[in-house]
Amino acid sequence: MRIAVPKESAAGEHRVATVPDVVGRLVKLGVEVLVETGAGAGAFHSDEAFAAAGARIVTDAAELYREGDVVLKVQAPTLEEAERLREGTILIGLLTPHKNLDVVLRLRDRRITALALELLPRISRAQAMDALSSQASVAGYRAVLMAAYRLGKFMPMLTTPTGTIRPARFLIVGVGVAGLQAIATARRLGAMVEAYDVRPATKEQVESLGAKFIQMDIKADAQGGYARELTAEEKQQQQDLIAKHVAQADVVITTAAVPGKQAPRIITTAMVEHMRAGSVIIDLAAESGGNCELTKPDKGVRYHDVEILGPVNVPSTLATHASEMYAKNMLNLLQLMIKDGQLAPDWEDEVLRDSTLTRDGDIKFGPIRTLIEGGQS
Ligand SMILES: NC(=O)c1ccc[n+]([C@@H]2O[C@H](COP(=O)([O-])OP(=O)(O)OC[C@H]3O[C@@H](n4cnc5c(N)ncnc54)[C@H](O)[C@@H]3O)[C@@H](O)[C@H]2O)c1
Repeated sequence: MRIAVPKESAAGEHRVATVPDVVGRLVKLGVEVLVETGAGAGAFHSDEAFAAAGARIVTDAAELYREGDVVLKVQAPTLEEAERLREGTILIGLLTPHKNLDVVLRLRDRRITALALELLPRISRAQAMDALSSQASVAGYRAVLMAAYRLGKFMPMLTTPTGTIRPARFLIVGVGVAGLQAIATARRLGAMVEAYDVRPATKEQVESLGAKFIQMDIKADAQGGYARELTAEEKQQQQDLIAKHVAQADVVITTAAVPGKQAPRIITTAMVEHMRAGSVIIDLAAESGGNCELTKPDKGVRYHDVEILGPVNVPSTLATHASEMYAKNMLNLLQLMIKDGQLAPDWEDEVLRDSTLTRDGDIKFGPIRTLIEGGQS
């Protein structure tokens, strides 16, 4: 059995789907690992390090795609890369199917078995395979450092000969995996942190990290630990409540998301107008439409002396550890499929079944099937 790891081709992508340490473990499982030359360069893993761990370095990308029984990617393949996959290959990655319908079609037609890590069920058994979580955690951490770098203030309280400096005030909106890591990071740097989420279960988590939870009477829990979309009335209630917390914050980090939907608009232009000059907003939901009305994906906007950043692909900016975590997620998933050095996936296993986007010429994930096949008929 051969596992192939190409160099990521998307602009600005520095991560790689495996790291030398994981290659060593795969080799011990009796698997042959092929890595494209330069695949790890962005995450500071050299070809030599991969080779020393037992990988075969392949210079020709087309050959690599052709030879893999399993191909590990971080991002979705391009159409050209999808063409290179041999029929029956198992492709695993963060495939963002909603944004890549043409690629999904190609994978279906080429009878590729595609596992989209976004579809992995959020059950405890699958936690160690959960790439959405590992990468969200990286993003939450990085967002705090981005804000700290831009803020013209200290983060912690400081007692100096010239007087006491108050700690920076952070507001974290959306307390999923990224939000929790943002709270923990801001607290470690000494900031005062408030946080808000529509799932009441997050209150305890927020408080256990030493932050203050902003209480509201909305309960928007949905299946799988996710949130549902708010009604128009609830949205208004939310805005009335959080406006004054936004006005008091030096930094607002927003991470709110509802699966399969545009990110909820939470921070209005009027709220930004009431923020202090020099404040910073980091909108981690920029890629899915933004939680702030003024966010521009991949850009910084200055409005009323408030800086609003809409960074995209934040995990790639911490490529070494993001790749390491991602590679371990992949290893744990692969271990489910490998028996005695051979591929032996059980497609009835909940983890594999739910993660399957395409297999045997079909689109297995209902919402994408409806989007594509509904549109074709
Ligand atoms: N295997 C597992 O058991 C497992 C793995 C990962 C995550 N989880 C859980 O799943 C949950 C969601 O995680 P996620 O980070 O992927 O979520 P996500 O990225 O879908 O959303 C981020 C956060 O935004 C919140 N949100 C949505 N709409 C909002 C609004 N209008 N205002 C404020 N907040 C809003 C959500 O409640 C969520 O906490 C978490 O509770 C997490 O602990 C479980």
